[in-house]
Amino acid sequence: MIRINENFLKLQSSYLFADIAKRVDAYQKQHPNQTIIRLGIGDVTRALPAACIEALHKGTEDMAQESTFRGYGPEQGYLFLREKIAQYDFQARGAEVEADEIFVSDGAKCDTGNIQEIFAGDIRVAVPDPVYPVYVDTNVMAGRTGAFGNGRYEGLVYLECTRENHYVPALPAEPVDLIYLCFPNNPTGATITREQLATWVDYARQHNALILYDSAYEAFIRDERLPRSIYEIEGAREVAIEFRSFSKTAGFTGTRCAFTVVPKNCMAHTADGRTMALHGLWNRRHTTKFNGVAYPIQRAAEAVYSPAGQAQTRALTDYYLKNAAFIRQAFAAMGYACVGGDHSPYIWIDARRDAWEFFDLLLQKAGVVCTPGAGFGKCGAQYIRLSAFNSYENVQKAMERIRAALI
Ligand code: MLT
Repeated sequence: MIRINENFLKLQSSYLFADIAKRVDAYQKQHPNQTIIRLGIGDVTRALPAACIEALHKGTEDMAQESTFRGYGPEQGYLFLREKIAQYDFQARGAEVEADEIFVSDGAKCDTGNIQEIFAGDIRVAVPDPVYPVYVDTNVMAGRTGAFGNGRYEGLVYLECTRENHYVPALPAEPVDLIYLCFPNNPTGATITREQLATWVDYARQHNALILYDSAYEAFIRDERLPRSIYEIEGAREVAIEFRSFSKTAGFTGTRCAFTVVPKNCMAHTADGRTMALHGLWNRRHTTKFNGVAYPIQRAAEAVYSPAGQAQTRALTDYYLKNAAFIRQAFAAMGYACVGGDHSPYIWIDARRDAWEFFDLLLQKAGVVCTPGAGFGKCGAQYIRLSAFNSYENVQKAMERIRAALI
């Protein structure tokens, strides 16, 4: 008899964004004449930067000639891309990261979801609340939690992010081994200062813990004092793995390219106390289960680091940040408390009522899709998240409609 992994039965019935898409589709079928403006899932809407398109075409041409054709590439990614990443994203900012510590992949969602495979089943895991659901669900699938009840999984340590702590959690009050952090944060859009991040690095060093740092939204940071990488903090190399993505930086959600940094001196332990480098373990996992990102896509990602690519990706993130500022100002003017939107494409709004009720209200009265905060955890029960990924015109229209519906 074939038996299933019953940990899957502990999960909520569907993935948050799949659930929302289903509800929106059902509403659209009943109201075919209503134009719906989607500010829910963080999916980019603008075309790829010209420099990336040019490199993508050129990479495709390379595949058309036998002299430049490529078959399987290195699983970890081509050196031409890994070297640019190391130089521009890290070394230029004083962060010590080498090209061979970078693992190119098809997404930060996959990497943040898969990384937990290299850790023991009985480690104590801390996640923020609210949280990007992938961190939680993948640990549930792996059997690191008990049942779901009252908005939380038994066995996980939840780090509450509230208005009182400016959405940056306090250090855990109980012992934990693995800590997920994400800044600029998804879903709140909050940022962390260097000093605050340093307290986490110190905590991890003192407690033999490991930080999984999701920095997928770093390209939206405009305050140069804020850290873009955890490796800008002294001592982080030994206690942190970082995840990055071209999805939001360069509009690659449909193109797929991301990377994970595993420093060679980042260590963990066996049950009998031996020290092991995580770099080797992740390399083993990656080479066994992944065959690399398509060559033309890696060429397109490389173009992000060209002078034209740098200017074009900056313009792209500026565009979405202008939307974000508009959304935040519109909600603030209506008297709602908001966070995010200044160094992030997400705005976290205190709805002062049940999140799903507010979701329904915005959908039905304004034809606007948001993400109910409840989907990100108990602390989001009365919040919604709005995404700035849409055209400026649609964002303006959405805010007009919402104002009319709420006032
Ligand atoms: C989100 O809306 O939170 C993001 O699109 C999720 C993701 O990048 O997978």
